[in-house]
Amino acid sequence: MEIMEKIVALSKRRGFIYPGSEIYGGFGGFWDYGPIGVELKNNIKKAWWKDIVYSRDDVVGLDTAIIMNPTVWDKSGHLKAFGDPLVECKVCHKRFRSDNEEELKKHEGEHDGKGEWTEAKTFNLMTEVLLGTTEPKEKAYLRGEITQGVFVNFKNVVDSNRVKIPFGIAQIGKAFRNEITPGNFTFRSREFEQMELEYFIRPDEKEGEKTFEFWKEERMNWYLTYGMTKDKLRFREHTPEKRAHYARLATDIEYEAPFGWSEFEGIHHRGDFDLKNHGLSYKDEGDEFTPWVIETSGGVDRATLFFLIDAYREEGERVYLKLHPELAPFKAAVFPLLANKEELVKKAKEIYESLKASYYVAWDDRGNIGKRYASQDEIGTPWCVTVDFQSLDDGTVTIRDRDTTKQERIAVDKIAGYIEDKLG
Ligand code: GAP
Repeated sequence: MEIMEKIVALSKRRGFIYPGSEIYGGFGGFWDYGPIGVELKNNIKKAWWKDIVYSRDDVVGLDTAIIMNPTVWDKSGHLKAFGDPLVECKVCHKRFRSDNEEELKKHEGEHDGKGEWTEAKTFNLMTEVLLGTTEPKEKAYLRGEITQGVFVNFKNVVDSNRVKIPFGIAQIGKAFRNEITPGNFTFRSREFEQMELEYFIRPDEKEGEKTFEFWKEERMNWYLTYGMTKDKLRFREHTPEKRAHYARLATDIEYEAPFGWSEFEGIHHRGDFDLKNHGLSYKDEGDEFTPWVIETSGGVDRATLFFLIDAYREEGERVYLKLHPELAPFKAAVFPLLANKEELVKKAKEIYESLKASYYVAWDDRGNIGKRYASQDEIGTPWCVTVDFQSLDDGTVTIRDRDTTKQERIAVDKIAGYIEDKLG
């Protein structure tokens, strides 16, 4: 777990992730992303949107409301079946998930190892909100999954776009769950983001299995493309009794976190469960049917956490994040060798301003070059550009690679092209 402590400390110190409402003692299960963290998280979402929506002709995007008519959650089955098994300690009345044996043992230790628990009861995870000005206020829910917004708009999308089955609807957005035991940093939060694709197909067993397998592979390969270590990833099939209420088939993508193998994306065969419950169907040249849905549901916060953990490297004194350049918060940093030499600062500022037009770039003129490299390494900046005295003579700069620490000299007008090439 030592690595987790380091990641949590680095996140706070460098502005990746802070505890939510920290000045008031925090608030269990809520986290805030700092200036560096919001960039990493946005880059993950941008990469996902680019690969799932822009690069495919059969997927469109959507952004639906967080609070919906409560009937949605009744029809979707979430008010009845969306819960975790909960037990209560008979001594102190604290409640825990009954499937977390480690947590239960730890708690029993607080009562000299003598644990007495109530029968497990299902605890609904939906977060209630009260709306309106007159009493009684209207009860609604913060969405427990972003998915239902897609289903209830299925007809709108079909009627307003030229989509034809098979096609997908993608969405990224916040979801809320009244988790019994939030923990492991951002891993189990009460507010989190999901990035989901609902892919609609004809109701056909073979087609369903084929599409399910296709998206499983696509999603695993996506994490590999963005640099996650292959050996740290695996699929885990859900047995029928472990599947969510809507799933005919379900497989998780898990990462070997310091706290054990942990799910961060689910691929689900939802069949016609949702569209049927909402009374929706699809018409195609006189043929009417209820489509089946294959879903890929990833957690943005869990992906952010696992990209961070996976990228973390220590080499002697040196700490760096080997983030994929597309995900790195800054693409480059620009330094004048000396902060008190006007000509160096002027030239470096010119380069900084011109790169800024295309990339998010950091500026640093504090301390010595070694410290600036170390500082950028720690937040994963792939390239550092330094303007030195030779730059003034021959119009070249040094560009240093985060992973190899090797420096090359290149012409100022080649810097943008260099970054472009490396980004692919
Ligand atoms: N629409 C399907 C669905 O919501 P899920 O397996 O319940 O499926 C999908 O959730 C993903 O959402 C998970 O794999 C995880 O990455 C993320 N997620 C779920 N609960 C979370 C929580 N409490 N904190 C952070 N992320 C969570």
